[in-house]
Amino acid sequence: MLNHLCNDTPVIVVNGQLPGPAIEATEGDSVVVHVINKSPHGVTIHWHGVKQQLNCWADGAGMITQCPIQPNKNFTYRFNVIGQEGTLWWHAHVGFLRATVHGALIIRPRSGPGSYPFPKPDKEIPIVIGEWWDMEIVQVERRAASRIFDDWPRSPTINGKLGDLSNCSGFIEDNYVLNVEHGKTYLLRIVNAALHEQYNFKIAGHEFTVVAIDANYVKPYTTDTIVIASGETVDALLVAGAPPGRYYMIAQAMQSPEPFLQIPVLMSRGVVSYYPSKGSTDDTPIMAPEMPDQHDATTSFYFRGNLTSLLPQSVPANVDEQLFIAIDVGDICSHDGSHDNCMVTRLNNISFHLPTTTSLLQAHYNNNMSTSAISMLKEFPRCPPSSEFGYSPTSVGTAVRTVRYNTTVEIVFQNPYSSGMFSASNPMHLHGHDLFILGQGLGKFDPVKDVQAYNLVDPPVRNTALAPIYGWTAIRFVASNPGVWFLHCHMEKHVSSGMALALVVEDGPTPETTLPPPPADYRSCDGGQNNRALADE
Ligand code: C2O
Repeated sequence: MLNHLCNDTPVIVVNGQLPGPAIEATEGDSVVVHVINKSPHGVTIHWHGVKQQLNCWADGAGMITQCPIQPNKNFTYRFNVIGQEGTLWWHAHVGFLRATVHGALIIRPRSGPGSYPFPKPDKEIPIVIGEWWDMEIVQVERRAASRIFDDWPRSPTINGKLGDLSNCSGFIEDNYVLNVEHGKTYLLRIVNAALHEQYNFKIAGHEFTVVAIDANYVKPYTTDTIVIASGETVDALLVAGAPPGRYYMIAQAMQSPEPFLQIPVLMSRGVVSYYPSKGSTDDTPIMAPEMPDQHDATTSFYFRGNLTSLLPQSVPANVDEQLFIAIDVGDICSHDGSHDNCMVTRLNNISFHLPTTTSLLQAHYNNNMSTSAISMLKEFPRCPPSSEFGYSPTSVGTAVRTVRYNTTVEIVFQNPYSSGMFSASNPMHLHGHDLFILGQGLGKFDPVKDVQAYNLVDPPVRNTALAPIYGWTAIRFVASNPGVWFLHCHMEKHVSSGMALALVVEDGPTPETTLPPPPADYRSCDGGQNNRALADE
């Protein structure tokens, strides 16, 4: 039970902490995590961004790679962190539970912090952006399952603190405080663990130098605003070079314009303080940064457009499998009754439905991925049935796309592009792979002009590609990791209402390219109880 804003809310956390404990590893490490589920809900933990080569069993995607760990049961995750350095994170992957079940996963270089490709920071600070919900999160999820989507959090949080913009009956919430020493450099490891919103992040009087995103180094990029969508991570250097004083650090949620429901501005303030924590004069005025408008999507667009990978990338030139994915909302009712209960999200007109009796990975491994095992199985199509957005029938199913081992896949994610339509900035996350982000644009993707402008030299490499509101983004990756990988929008309301598909990567020809059998303690589903999202329990 946590009390904020005069309200007690039951929450589920890990080891009594919110955010949960940061896992600190060194590149090349084997990581072992014992999960003891003392909560009343089935739970899985996903290691967001970890490549899990030949280790799909440990990916922790509920009903995709495993059934939830039942209450009072244990499960041990074993995985390696190889060829990745920077900040990733972990979170529950069962319904909305990740709102409070999350933490950072930090991977440092094997040869020590002296080998960072940027000046060695004096200190490293995880900054986890989350959200505080008054309502018990299970309740929020139940309401979303009955397609009531108009709940929103009371406040964002920075490292668990709501900040001084939140108060109730004169009781002001704590700020997260970062005490700095003049002249020192801090590596901020920023994680957006919020269920939905994209955030603008600023510190008054300071600039950042972005050095990595999603545990991939980028060419140092200096900016006063960091933009981070749900699921993403950003590593940035902060030099404490301002006149000694106190400066607000602000995380502000962005918002889609109408016809989306408009909600209050969501903002959390922390403080960067140059005074030693003791003796800090609480009446020194605190400088506040000027924030972009909450509807402004340009800042995000340019922030992303300015990112390039630190080193040249070997982007495969030939594409074997080309997907064009239209992201929008659909209506699953016949057009007579009330519409409120009919809205779903979808990709290429299919609204994704999780299987209920077996995980997809287990069905695939047992060569059993058929409609008898996965009753709503559907092949995910290469492109939408119609090239125009707007009304077209929606089907509901467990949408799966299968590719051969080592296929080079290119995907263009296209959002609705005319104003007045439901369009949002959708962070599309693929498990188990990093993606070359080849380009982004506004409006309708042009297969001639836009392809010519692709960055095939030093594209940013991420596990999440943001399709900008009213626009598109294009990615390429090599499907070289056999297994079943979830591809979904990281906004929880979107993934839970259908904005997802499963990518099956087949085994290669050799033992080294074949998914090994499940770990000894892997459990099959126990017949339906507690397998699904919280809302169905
Ligand atoms: Cu961080 Cu499938 O998610």
